Amino acid sequence: MNLSQEILKQKKEKDVVILAHYYVDGAVQEIADFVGDSYALAKKAAETDAKNILFAGVPFMGESAKLLNPDKHVYMVDTTAGCAMADMIDAKEVKRVRTQYPKAAVVCYVNSSAEVKAESDVCVTSSNAVRVTEKLPQKQIYFIPDSHLAHFVAESMPEKEFIYHDGCCPVHQKIDADSLKKAKEKHKGAKVLSHPECAEDILALSDYVGSTADIIHYAREDQTKEYIIATETGVFYQLEKENPDKKFYPVTDCQVCPDMKKVTLEKILQILEHLEEQKEIVLEEHIMTQAKLPLEKMLALAE
Ligand code: 13P
Ligand code: SF4
Repeated sequence: MNLSQEILKQKKEKDVVILAHYYVDGAVQEIADFVGDSYALAKKAAETDAKNILFAGVPFMGESAKLLNPDKHVYMVDTTAGCAMADMIDAKEVKRVRTQYPKAAVVCYVNSSAEVKAESDVCVTSSNAVRVTEKLPQKQIYFIPDSHLAHFVAESMPEKEFIYHDGCCPVHQKIDADSLKKAKEKHKGAKVLSHPECAEDILALSDYVGSTADIIHYAREDQTKEYIIATETGVFYQLEKENPDKKFYPVTDCQVCPDMKKVTLEKILQILEHLEEQKEIVLEEHIMTQAKLPLEKMLALAE
């Protein structure tokens, strides 16, 4: 039996569902039970009836799964993987800004810790941030931690007043306008599809802005044959698999999230073989109670 076959056998025997983000390696996406963007993964995690969830992604995704489906045992493939953006804000800072702007709604991108979510009013993902934020009755919005996503959302609702945090995703931050202009020059006629974690000058040069799932959906439906992709390179696996007749180019050669790439088939098999000895995600009681509320509110408002 090869590695993938062994994984499929083990996960069935141990009642494990493997949820993978589009940024992990293609080989991992291939053996996963479900691959999606952060929003689809949160919904899937909330619905699954498997006893165990193994998350091929980063901690905020596993924590969201635990918060939305607390009876499940949730494991991460690599517990040393983190999210640099999530680390850019803590609960203390949210409390501090809240006292400064008591009327503001705290809108928290899911790329954040459970402690930060516990201090927030509602969560959003990149695919529903506009839809959810525009439904909030508050005029003032304190949007954390990603300033680029915050500006993208703010642009479509000028009636609201945004308070920004200066967080960002270092992977998307490295995608620069000069490289994008050069890529457009090189691949004339190619459409630019970008993730809203990119800086504003990248979004201004783009034909379409959306979450990873939105980008994949756009490329599937669109008639163009060539695309420049401004997000993490993991999405190329689905893009190329679904569209063998189309061409996809990165903007730079550094669109790689080192944390997402810590997820490997070897580690997945190792965990499945020794599941009983693995450390599962455990959150403090008060965090469980508080942090699930903004996530549940997101699921309700995003429909
Ligand atoms: P989406 O899954 O919402 O596209 O977000 C990308 C991301 O940064 C996940 O880490
Ligand atoms: Fe975090 Fe950026 Fe990596 Fe996504 S791509 S997990 S936001 S560091």
